[in-house]
Amino acid sequence: MRETIIVLDFGGQYNQLIARRVRDLRVYAEILPYDTPLEKILEIKPIGIILTGGPSTVTDEDAPICDRRLFDAGIPILGICYGSQLMGSVLGGSVKRADRREYGKTDIRYNTDCPLFKGLEADSVCWMSHTYYVDKPPKGFEIIASTQSCEVAAYGSAEKSLYGVQFHPEVVHTRFGNEILGNFLYEICGASGGWTMENYVETAVADIRRRVGDGRVLLGLSGGVDSSVAAVLLDKAVGKNLTCIFVDHGLLRKDEAKQVEEVFKGEYDMNLVCVDASERFLSRLAGVTEPEKKRKIIGEEFIRVFEQEAAKIGKVDFLAQGTIYPDVIESGKGYAAVIKSHHNVGGLPDAVDFREIIEPLRELFKDEVRALGEALGMPHHIVWRQPFPGPGLAIRIIGDVTREKVHTLQLADAIFREEIANAGLDSEIWQYFAVLTDMRSVGVMGDERTYDHTVALRAVTSVDGMTADWARIPYDVMEKISNRIINEVKGVNRICYDVTSKPPATIEWE
Ligand code: XMP
Repeated sequence: MRETIIVLDFGGQYNQLIARRVRDLRVYAEILPYDTPLEKILEIKPIGIILTGGPSTVTDEDAPICDRRLFDAGIPILGICYGSQLMGSVLGGSVKRADRREYGKTDIRYNTDCPLFKGLEADSVCWMSHTYYVDKPPKGFEIIASTQSCEVAAYGSAEKSLYGVQFHPEVVHTRFGNEILGNFLYEICGASGGWTMENYVETAVADIRRRVGDGRVLLGLSGGVDSSVAAVLLDKAVGKNLTCIFVDHGLLRKDEAKQVEEVFKGEYDMNLVCVDASERFLSRLAGVTEPEKKRKIIGEEFIRVFEQEAAKIGKVDFLAQGTIYPDVIESGKGYAAVIKSHHNVGGLPDAVDFREIIEPLRELFKDEVRALGEALGMPHHIVWRQPFPGPGLAIRIIGDVTREKVHTLQLADAIFREEIANAGLDSEIWQYFAVLTDMRSVGVMGDERTYDHTVALRAVTSVDGMTADWARIPYDVMEKISNRIINEVKGVNRICYDVTSKPPATIEWE
C-alpha cells in the first residue's frame, strides 16, 4: 500500500496547494471531497488526514461536515482554518465570530515543545484569513500557538495526534509553513517519504507493463508537455507496442511540427504517425471569425483526423491520454463558469476501436509531470515548454484565418520567443506569444507609405493560468523585438504590447 495523506476538500482556495506541498515533502497526497464515506477513506489506509479550509461557517446549518467517526479512527489529523474549526466544534470546543476579519501576515508565537512546531523559532509570522475562530479548544486539547488577536491560533493533542491551525501553513507567507507540514508528516504521521519522480518512473513503468501486457497502445501526441511525457513513459514501458499519432493542423508555431518529428521519431525512435492536415483545417476555417466557432471546428476536425488515422492502424487495446491530476480532482465545490471552451478536455474519439483507456499521468500535478520528464531524461525544451492552446494560432489571429496570416504570425512569434530567450527571460515569463490583430494602420518605411497589420505582443506571469499579470519586459528588449519584427516580417508595420492582467482580460485574445 502506498504511503498516502488524504486531503479532505472543504472548498478552500488553497486545497491543491496543500496537496502539492505535501508531495514536495515526498509523501503522496490525494484530494477527496469532504463527504467521502469513512469506509472509502479507511480502505486507502492513509497515514494522516488534512482537513482543508473552506468558505463555509461551522455554525451554519448546512455547513459541510465529514464523518464524525474520522476523529476516533486513530489516524493523525491536521485541520487547517475551516478544518480546524470543524474539528474543534465536533469535538466539543467552541467557535466564535470575530468582530473583524483577520487577514494577512500576522505575528505568532508557537509552543515549540509540541511535535507540530518542533525545531521552529518560537516567534514567527503566519498567514491568516478568517472571520470565525476556535475560542475554546475541546477538552483534553492544549493551546499550542497564539497571535495577539487569536489566542487559539493552534490547538492539539499529542496523545490523540489531532491538531488544528487557524492559519495557513501551505501559503508561502507563513514563514515556517513547510516545516510545520513536514513535522505533521514525519513527526506525527511517521512518514518515510519515498514519493519522488525518480521512484515514480520505476513503479509507473512496472504498472503500465502489468496492465498492458503485450497489448497495443495508441496515443494522440500534441507536442505539449503532458502528452510528450506520457509518450516517453509509455515508450519506456511498452516500446514498439505504442503508436503515437501527431496531427499537424497547420496552426502550430514555427518549426514545431518538424521538432516533434525530430525528437520522437529521431531521438526516441517511436512508432510515430505524423499527419499534415493543414489543408483540411484551413479550408474549414475559411471566413470564420467567431472565436468559439473556431474552437469548435478545430476540436471536431481534430477528432475526425485522429479517427481516420487510427482506423488505418486498426484495433488497439488501449487509448492513452495525457490527463493530469487537476483534471480529475473531484472537488468539494461547484465548477467555475466556462469562459472559453477548451477543446482538448472535451470528448473522446468515438470511432476509435479500443478496449480501455490508460492515463499514465492521472495522479500527477503539472510540476510533477515536468519533474517526471526530467527524471526520464527528456529534452529541456519539451519539458519546460510553455502552455500552448489546442486550437493553436487560430485563436491568436483575430478575424479570419488564412495560410498567409498563419505564416506572418509564425515569423513574428518566433522572433519574440527568440529575443525573450536571448534576454534570459524565458524561465521568468509564464507564457508569451504574438497575436496578429485584424487592425491595419498607416506607416512609412523608407520613402513608402505602408498600410499593414498590427502585431500585439502578450507576455504574462502566472502560476496556473487562472490569474495572470503582464510581464515587465525591459524596454531595450522590447525595442529589439519591435525592430526585428518590423524589419523581418512582411505585412507588419506596428507593434503593441498588451498591458492587461487577467482578470479582467484573458491570456489569449480569443
Ligand atoms: P485564457 O485565455 O482563458 O487562457 O486566459 C488560460 C490558459 O489556457 C490556454 N487556453 C487554451 N488551451 N485550448 C487549450 O488547450 C483552448 O481553447 C484554450 N484557450 C486558452 C491559454 O493558452 C492559457 O495558457
